[in-house]
Amino acid sequence: MKKTVRDIEVKDRKVIVRCDFNVPLKDGIITDDTRITAALPTIRYLMDNGAAVILMSHLGRPDGNADMKFTLEPVAKRLSELLEKKVIFASSPLVVDENIRKQADTLKPGQVMLLENVRFRKEETKNDSKFSKELASLADIFVNDAFGTAHRAHASTAGIASYLPAVSGFLIEKEIEFLGNAVENPVRPFVAIMGGAKVGDKISVIDNLLKKVDTLIIGGGMSYTFYKALGYEIGTSILDEASIDLADDLLKKASLSGVKMMLPVDVVCGKEFKNETDTLICGSREIPADMMGMDIGPETVELYKEQIESAGTVVWNGPMGVFEMENFARGTYEIARALSESDAVTVIGGGDSAAAVEQFGLADKMTHISTGGGASLEFLEGKELPGVAVLEDK
Ligand code: 3PG
Repeated sequence: MKKTVRDIEVKDRKVIVRCDFNVPLKDGIITDDTRITAALPTIRYLMDNGAAVILMSHLGRPDGNADMKFTLEPVAKRLSELLEKKVIFASSPLVVDENIRKQADTLKPGQVMLLENVRFRKEETKNDSKFSKELASLADIFVNDAFGTAHRAHASTAGIASYLPAVSGFLIEKEIEFLGNAVENPVRPFVAIMGGAKVGDKISVIDNLLKKVDTLIIGGGMSYTFYKALGYEIGTSILDEASIDLADDLLKKASLSGVKMMLPVDVVCGKEFKNETDTLICGSREIPADMMGMDIGPETVELYKEQIESAGTVVWNGPMGVFEMENFARGTYEIARALSESDAVTVIGGGDSAAAVEQFGLADKMTHISTGGGASLEFLEGKELPGVAVLEDK
């Protein structure tokens, strides 16, 4: 168990908090502020307990350049609104400089400032110790609350912990509790639902989950690579050619370990990869040569719903079809709805499945939706996340 902000004295201390404010933006406007609201409990706790709070985050991948397309200024504005208190935006292309140091020095208990995008410095992603020290020099305590970035060993997520007492915030604590309990201590039957386009990205997750689950459900674009491994014709469906053998291995492993592994029995096909196109519902072995699978079919939906209804725990990562297109969103929607109605512990891995659940307005019906895409996947793979590993144990 890692120490959290509750386990240390923060009064009259300067606390530097790594958040994951890597939010989607369109024309400078934040289109989804989930990651900002998820950071509020830690920020509020620190403010209320007399700490001066210095926040830092990355946004996008500016590759070490101070590219203002990736400035955190919109985040500072949104944070000010949510906290109903001005968040000082410490705008420097260097992230830390003499002026920023002065601002940090004069920051009072209860005040909050946000540094500029840490990835404006090329040293960040190199986990450069000089940059870690610069960041550490601003504060007395380091709090990591950036679950979404905890799988990166960067200067602001991992390196900085060598120079300051380091504890976790409430978001990291909550993510680890829900994801960890779901996987290590599940209420059974434990069902994992894996979707998304590429098997290659999820092989290690499936491999690890096969040791833990009772049922593994496959959907989405990765189904066609499994079909191929079974020798089915898949028409023009997406194929992760490099992973056919791996898919075959996973099918064999599942059968050896007694895990029930389910593939879609029917498919909604489209002629072209667009919403308005000819469609056909067919059996999994009957995909026409000139069509592609774009969603799970209605029979599959019923079979998968039965599994969800009788589950004790469900972990879901990756959509069942091209849910961004209305005509191919049904499978993903039905699975999300079944989860929202189930009594099981329901944990949604971040990324696309989290976006789908939000889009369908079902987010508040789930037990937990992770704020981490890559991070939750690595966690489900059973890997230790560097941004968590560096924190002090209780
Ligand atoms: C994410 O969105 O998954 C995190 O913020 C990490 O971003 P990255 O993949 O650019 O490191």
